[in-house]
Amino acid sequence: MTKIILDCDPGHDDMMAIMLAAASDELELLGITTVAGNQTGSKTFENARKIITLLNLDVPLARGADKPIVRELITAPQIHGNSGLDGAELPGADAPYLGCHAVDFIIDSVKASKDKITLVPTGPLTNIGLALIKAPEIKKNIEQIVLMGGAVYDSNMTPGSEFNIFVDPEAAREVFLCGLPVTMVGLDVTNKSLMSFEQAEEMIGWGGRISSVVGPLMKFFGQSNLDYFGINGAPIHDALTVATLVNPDVVEFENWFVDIETQGELTRGQTVADVYRVTGNEPNCRVAMKVNNDLFMSIMMDAVKKLDGMVD
Ligand code: BDR
Ligand code: CA
Repeated sequence: MTKIILDCDPGHDDMMAIMLAAASDELELLGITTVAGNQTGSKTFENARKIITLLNLDVPLARGADKPIVRELITAPQIHGNSGLDGAELPGADAPYLGCHAVDFIIDSVKASKDKITLVPTGPLTNIGLALIKAPEIKKNIEQIVLMGGAVYDSNMTPGSEFNIFVDPEAAREVFLCGLPVTMVGLDVTNKSLMSFEQAEEMIGWGGRISSVVGPLMKFFGQSNLDYFGINGAPIHDALTVATLVNPDVVEFENWFVDIETQGELTRGQTVADVYRVTGNEPNCRVAMKVNNDLFMSIMMDAVKKLDGMVD
């Protein structure tokens, strides 16, 4: 079983990532940490507590950074709404949480684990970057970092950048150049990882406790992506990232050297991939470039059914 810590900014697709991690026999979810991104730090934390309450999960939760390492926070209400999770009523935010900061939870958990841990960030990389700066010695007990962020040819924040990396490019640079194996699951694949409006309706039709909440959330998320980007369906970016650990056949990878632009006037947060190997640098990153969306959707639908207790 792969031991993971999920660092997220829920967020509709972060919620799907949590659900898949919780439902998968292949993964052991050691903890959930939150970061400011899709919404403020207090809202993403609150949303994580609501999700954990809905799913009835017994998992440590720690709240992390409220802003990027050096920049002001930018959020995404145009995609995720004012709450960060608009579109359905979730239960109260009753889930218990740890008193420590997410960065310290990550450091302590990695140090204490007898097996190497995989970090799975699905928001801005602030917490992970800070953990690596504060305690670089934890690298020896990290298996890999599998993150949602960036793109080689696609974009959603500026013409050259993806949201998570754009929000905290300094943290992203820390992560990409940290020397550990990094897997980048970016928009080149996640913008094709779509739950259709029909599939969201189908889930509502199941009438389960979880599916009745997830279906409307996916319809809201699909509609905002349709209105804003013209994407026809809900791109469940963050869940695809988790899915690569559940079933590696869901994507195909290229190995490239990837660096992060932190200075550019037009290119802040660009994930600059050396696809023609012109730098001579050794690849530092596995980059997901093809996705099997039918397989991904069957994984997601099965996960929701399982959480609803419809199958074992
Ligand atoms: C990423 O940005 C957020 O809006 C999503 O949750 C995802 O992590 C996609 O660019
Ligand atoms: Ca996210």
